[in-house]
Amino acid sequence: MSSQTSSVIVLGTGSYVPDRIVTNDDMAKIVDTSDEWIRTRTGISERRFAADDEATSDLACAAGARAIEAAGIDRSEIDLIIVATMTPDMPFPSTACLVQSKLGLPNVCAFDVQAACSGFVYTLGIANAMLLSGNFNKALVIGAEKTSPILDFEDRTTCVLFGDGAGAVVLSRSDVPNVGILGALGGSDGSDPSLLHQPAGGSAIPSSTESLAARQHFLKMNGKEIFKQAVRVMGKASADILEQQGFDSSEIDLVIPHQANMRIIDSLAKRMKIPMEKFHNNLDRYGNTSAASVGIALDEAYRAGRIQSGDLLLLVAFGAGLTWASALIKWQ
Ligand code: UT7
Repeated sequence: MSSQTSSVIVLGTGSYVPDRIVTNDDMAKIVDTSDEWIRTRTGISERRFAADDEATSDLACAAGARAIEAAGIDRSEIDLIIVATMTPDMPFPSTACLVQSKLGLPNVCAFDVQAACSGFVYTLGIANAMLLSGNFNKALVIGAEKTSPILDFEDRTTCVLFGDGAGAVVLSRSDVPNVGILGALGGSDGSDPSLLHQPAGGSAIPSSTESLAARQHFLKMNGKEIFKQAVRVMGKASADILEQQGFDSSEIDLVIPHQANMRIIDSLAKRMKIPMEKFHNNLDRYGNTSAASVGIALDEAYRAGRIQSGDLLLLVAFGAGLTWASALIKWQ
């Protein structure tokens, strides 16, 4: 195990999901699908869709405010905000800057991370390194997505899978060694971006009447291939972080996996030889909230009393890119 002289700990967690519940039966009124198909193939029963006047930054602020409250600090103590999202309010400025203003946080470094569904776990690693550098003291890390506007409600293979929400943590440097974020890693393989992408709206295919007519502003996915890759990279990211930090999978108290498909999580559990009771899942209620999923699940698990001092947590995610990321946290 690598030994630390100072650590980065989780001071508080928070999450927010919009009020509007959309059930599988509701989706079956829009596309040719059924509650039975969605539940058995994915584990999803319902998801939340944000209101028209609720942007990603609003979801992020609600989760962030809850995390700050749980941390019990004055918001002026925060000097770094990173928002992980693939559905920013707009291409620029960053959603993190909008959160800075809406939450009234003076003098912070603020930027977004785009690593799709791996974004929250990627960002934990980035914030950890920035805090350990000594240049920052307290970071607000948020994963937030409003996926609903980029879903193609004429494509039953994708629109039933995703939902909106946000999860957040406040991180702080601590003098107690070997607690908090013990390590984090991220990986990528960009050789086939078309596996999961939003083709138009960027510099390659700028917005045009043609791109809109071709429905290129919506999320497109090769679900079968992503499924195969997800099982492989979630297993690899988990094994790699355990090896890097010198732990065995039997020592893990709780796994917070990215919530994309229960069959992917089942495969990960079998591969890692970790019983399903040690996984915290909420896919049934929220669907895949992309960069928000791990943060929401972490907050839920903590508030439900599933995380105790001294527990070893494995966070693991994968997403478009492809990207993958994992982190080990020893709860302080
Ligand atoms: O965060 C990362 C994001 N993405 C993922 O993690 C997704 C990973 N992939 C998956 O979760 C799964 O591949 C899906 C849930 C997307 C699809 O499950 P599958 O078991 O791989 O189904 P499939 O694509 O092989 O489709 C089986 C059948 C097809 O019909 P035929 O060709 O066998 O007649 C599909 O047309 O199911 C059909 N189908 C549907 N039927 C009812 C596909 N989507 C639906 C639907 N409702 N919503």
